[in-house]
Amino acid sequence: MPCCRLAPGEIWEDEVNGHRVGCLDATDPVAIASLMGKERATLAIHDPPYNVAAFEVKHVSEFVKWCYQWISLTYNVLSNDASLYIWIGADQNNGFQPLPDFMIMMRGQRFSSRSFITMRNQRGYGTQKNWMAVRQELLYYVKGNPDFQVEYTDIPKVLKGYYKKVDGKVTENLQRSKSEHIRASNVWIDVQQVFYRMEENVSGCYAQKPLKSIKRIIRASSSADDLVVDYFSHSGTTLLACELLNRKCFTVDIDPVFAEITIRRLENFRGTGRAGWQNGNPFERELGELGAQDAQSDMDKEPEETEIPLQNALL
Ligand SMILES: C[S@@+](CC[C@H](N)C(=O)[O-])C[C@H]1O[C@@H](n2cnc3c(N)ncnc32)[C@H](O)[C@@H]1O
Repeated sequence: MPCCRLAPGEIWEDEVNGHRVGCLDATDPVAIASLMGKERATLAIHDPPYNVAAFEVKHVSEFVKWCYQWISLTYNVLSNDASLYIWIGADQNNGFQPLPDFMIMMRGQRFSSRSFITMRNQRGYGTQKNWMAVRQELLYYVKGNPDFQVEYTDIPKVLKGYYKKVDGKVTENLQRSKSEHIRASNVWIDVQQVFYRMEENVSGCYAQKPLKSIKRIIRASSSADDLVVDYFSHSGTTLLACELLNRKCFTVDIDPVFAEITIRRLENFRGTGRAGWQNGNPFERELGELGAQDAQSDMDKEPEETEIPLQNALL
């Protein structure tokens, strides 16, 4: 694939902090074994394609069988006390699938359920005949008994009440609480969905998760220098969050373009301090060259032949 340094089956190793990016299939045990070597992770964050039109649409039972494969591989690469987070869709026009069947499949796995988180999107979809759909589901499972770090949001506590006597004195809940801000709960309303005006935006990545949400997971369920794995890298959000929080990340994507974008996002961050390209493009150098070539060839062309759409030439 032009512009991509990894061919299917290859792994890139970062010389600075030891991250790894593979152009690998998450369901291939040999590929995942070569990614991991002898290392074991404390945390896995997976964001599989949701069985929607952007990807090859599978029947839900097939989709869940496919999930079973990479979930089983995840169990084996985790340390004895570790956490697993999975972003998963729930199609309201189709029995809320694949969420319920996925949950049932997980009951047969060796993980224990811990939490069912909903993140609120700012942009929704729907008609006037239904509630606006704004939720994204995130499942939290554990293997063994991993640590968990409580996190506080930036949202101030406003509710008063819950009076209780402490040392003979009636106190109100705000006087007793550890923070003036509310704790992150299993409903996240304070995470901005990624859109093109945000610095972290990666053009061409239609399924990019907000850095804030991935950082929240990493802070809650891992410690500095721990290893985090992500089998569906796409724009490389987990890798970048790990870089920012001093964790090591091993991540893969089956598509060489997304594996390349993942590596470029890290390199771009190290070079510029920016988390993405906003409305620029990870392939802007190549697009620029294409533009220059086109400009050269334009000189030899008749005017009506010169309108070549450059946008989306690579993505
Ligand atoms: C929903 S996106 C992940 C988004 C990511 N969390 C982010 O913030 O950018 C899913 C990704 O999974 C990749 N993928 C699909 N099937 C795969 C497989 N069998 N193995 C590895 N990656 C796969 C797709 O190419 C796509 O980039």
